[in-house]
Amino acid sequence: MMDPTQTTVRDVVAGDFRAAAIFQHHGLDFCCGGGRTIADACQAKGVAVEELSKQLEELTATPAAGIPQFNRWSPDLLVDYIVGNHHRYVRETSPTILAHAKKVARVHGDHHPETVRIAELFEGITRDLDQHMQKEEGILFPAIKGLAGVAPSGNRFPFGSVRNPIRMMEMEHQDAGDEMAEIRQLSHGFAPPEDACMTYRVLYQELQAFEQDLHQHVHLENNILFPKAVELEQQQTTAAAS
Ligand SMILES: [Fe+2]
Ligand SMILES: [Fe+2]
Repeated sequence: MMDPTQTTVRDVVAGDFRAAAIFQHHGLDFCCGGGRTIADACQAKGVAVEELSKQLEELTATPAAGIPQFNRWSPDLLVDYIVGNHHRYVRETSPTILAHAKKVARVHGDHHPETVRIAELFEGITRDLDQHMQKEEGILFPAIKGLAGVAPSGNRFPFGSVRNPIRMMEMEHQDAGDEMAEIRQLSHGFAPPEDACMTYRVLYQELQAFEQDLHQHVHLENNILFPKAVELEQQQTTAAAS
């Protein structure tokens, strides 16, 4: 039996990624705000904790066939998966989505001024994410591989503790998540208006998929990879001191 005042959102999603859909359905943040207990997260959003707990218990009672158990993966495997899957997704999709956003803003901006703001926001998100991913791939991830013993340990020396770049990456995740949430709000939950053309409709689908991928991406980093890296560093510091 899970205790919602003790168990964090992060613990549940890290143990079974299917739970992410339940949190998402109730509007609870599982990637950036994952450190909260379930009870606190529910209270902040006015969600009935009993109902949510029941849904989570029903879910975990059924086996999760074919769902990757990311929390059992090694840090270096997680890094490779995040780069090969999520970073690649961002790089591959964002130019097209941005082109669609700009086109929609140009054509529909007079009648639907929110589309202009959405294009501006998305442009900022892609620019920031591009730099963010470069920092992860160039600095933090090689350092994590160093800690995991699959790359030269000298990789971790540009900064003191691995917690420093992690803190910065978490702040950037929060910013990207907040901006995507603003797009979600401006687009009324990615619901195109009656008079929307095909590009408009495609854009909202693309933005919704992009947000969903970002949530999974940030979840894997904040809730699974980063805590593993901190733990590895701690173990090595303790071992070196004894
Ligand atoms: Fe990333
Ligand atoms: Fe990241």
